Amino acid sequence: MRALVSLAWGRLATALLLVFVHLNLAAALSVPRYSELEARTRADLDANTVRRELGSRLSPGTLIFGPSDGKFPAITARWNTFAPPQIQVVVQPASEADVAKIGDQVQYCNANGIDFLATNGGHGNSASLGTFTGVQISMAMLRTITIQPNKKSAWFQGGVYGGLVTKYLWERGFVTTTGSCDCVGLLGAALGGGHGRHEGLYGMVVDNLLQLNVVLGDGRAIRVSPTSNSDLLWGMKGAGHNFGIVTSFELNIFPRGPDTWHYHNYIWTGAQLERVFTSLNRLHNNGSTPVNMALNFGFFFMNTTVSTTDPILSWTFAYRGPANEAEALLAEFNAIPSVYNEQGDVPYNGVSKVQGNAEDDFICQKGNKRITTTAGLQVYNLTAERLIYNGFRARAISHPTLAAGAGILHEGYSTAGVGARNPADTAYPFRSDHHLMLFNGVIPPNDPVLEELAWEWANEVKDMWNAGQPTRTENNYVNYANGYEDLETVYGREPWRLARLRALKQKYDPQNKFRFYNPIVEPREGKGKGKGKGKGKGKRRSFQG
Ligand SMILES: Cc1cc2nc3c(=O)[nH]c(=O)nc-3n(C[C@H](O)[C@H](O)[C@H](O)COP(=O)(O)OP(=O)(O)OC[C@H]3O[C@@H](n4cnc5c(N)ncnc54)[C@H](O)[C@@H]3O)c2cc1C
Ligand SMILES: *[C@@H]1O[C@H](CO)[C@@H](O)[C@H](O)[C@H]1NC(C)=O
Ligand SMILES: *[C@@H]1O[C@H](CO)[C@@H](O)[C@H](O)[C@H]1NC(C)=O
Ligand SMILES: *[C@@H]1O[C@H](CO)[C@@H](O)[C@H](O)[C@H]1NC(C)=O
Repeated sequence: MRALVSLAWGRLATALLLVFVHLNLAAALSVPRYSELEARTRADLDANTVRRELGSRLSPGTLIFGPSDGKFPAITARWNTFAPPQIQVVVQPASEADVAKIGDQVQYCNANGIDFLATNGGHGNSASLGTFTGVQISMAMLRTITIQPNKKSAWFQGGVYGGLVTKYLWERGFVTTTGSCDCVGLLGAALGGGHGRHEGLYGMVVDNLLQLNVVLGDGRAIRVSPTSNSDLLWGMKGAGHNFGIVTSFELNIFPRGPDTWHYHNYIWTGAQLERVFTSLNRLHNNGSTPVNMALNFGFFFMNTTVSTTDPILSWTFAYRGPANEAEALLAEFNAIPSVYNEQGDVPYNGVSKVQGNAEDDFICQKGNKRITTTAGLQVYNLTAERLIYNGFRARAISHPTLAAGAGILHEGYSTAGVGARNPADTAYPFRSDHHLMLFNGVIPPNDPVLEELAWEWANEVKDMWNAGQPTRTENNYVNYANGYEDLETVYGREPWRLARLRALKQKYDPQNKFRFYNPIVEPREGKGKGKGKGKGKGKRRSFQG
């Protein structure tokens, strides 16, 4: 649709929109007038044109290709196909020399009214991505890592991902903060905060970001550091997707620590739910998790070899250190009768495999249509978890296909290093959340009835999590958000947070070029149109485009 909007209509619509904005949205007065309606997508955009017009400005390594190229499906594949970006052409810089040319690509797109989107791992989940049509600037080949001479930090190019970084550093005697899933782009996670197995010790990824090289929406390349554009450094640490393309960044690294980590995986039946969550609450003690008890997470999901009606509780614990220390902390869990359990000791770069989130594991796989909701909790509420479990059980009986594709994820990091930071120091707003939740429902591509039921269920679970903490607010980690949440629940409720982000937006991206990943300034002030509130489907914000 958007590709067909004519220039004249664009101008008229802009004028109407401005009237609308001035009449209706006081907040909009502080936001610059964006011109994205005029920056229409070129209807005739194709790879040959782009290659002809842009190719000569880039180095020979850069690939430019469209849907007819054999490489296209893999490089545009998404973890969630619910609302994928519409990619017309892929530009893939392939070498160090090309990094400097990303500004040229941005300028070319701007001059031609083409929207652009930086991508890496393809795991971005937000439905706001579905409003994008244009050129994908694929960062995935930019993977150089350079450990600095003092061995306290390293420079990483914008296309590195968790598994690659972990492996590279471990083999050289180091670790750093990454996401926990090997397949996720390090920057994708980092720009929104970045939760991972070292956050108990060292804080989140944003807490270790020293400086970044960023290409802004007008094509200018800037350094963002404590001494250069330092105001933007705060914004990059939790809302970074809104401000630029990161070509490289410097991050703290640390000596790698113990040679092995201990893991213990369990499967329990639903009958043990109260015991499991009581023990989890005792282990985590409301944000006082032993620092080396790095990460446990568990799913409710169907394992039909155990039961066709009752979902299982499948939990995995990873401890930074030896078995005896870990097992002392897990004694309570060992006392809960399990259907299955296994344990062992592996080097850190093997932990993702035993916890089931390595690159080839199911959770990392792309190409599924998913319905998701999220929540941030402090402690688990046993009543809420029992209600959520029973809701799953009901679907296993009434809608087995829906139940078969669903997993209800509970994450418990050790969080000392997260809580130790001043919350005002980063745009990441939720340092008092200790548990990160995700409802993840995989549904068939063309089944509107099941899709509706999945949304109903996803919102029910989210509501139960939040009703289980009646004295706390609804928090949605930006990297788990589905894109339909209110901005305050994603970027923080303190009014100064969004105000500060909007001021940075006005200064560094006045044309709102970066508006496709949970945007702090929404396209065309789209809030006015059909932003429903309340239950079920109405909870979903309608994006234009
Ligand atoms: C299976 C799975 C596991 C996850 N595990 C974790 C976890 O352990 N910890 C955690 O914190 N989060 C986790 N997440 C959430 C994850 O952080 C986000 O989904 C993130 O956006 C993925 O980044 P990506 O590069 O893989 O995806 P992409 O879709 O390629 O990127 C997402 C967005 O990031 C931005 N972006 C990416 N690269 C750049 C760049 N170089 N410069 C500027 N912007 C860029 C773009 O706006 C893009 O739309 C997980 C998600 C999934 C699906
Ligand atoms: C958890 O700790 C916070 C303070 O960090 C406190 O406000 C809250 O009441 C505690 N919750 C429980 C259930 O103890
Ligand atoms: C399902 O349960 C069985 C134990 O009955 C276990 O061996 C198997 O690993 C489980 N599968 C998954 C995917 O959890
Ligand atoms: C637990 O959740 C229920 C609703 O599911 C709620 O009524 C109750 O107040 C919650 N308990 C605590 C301690 O917050």
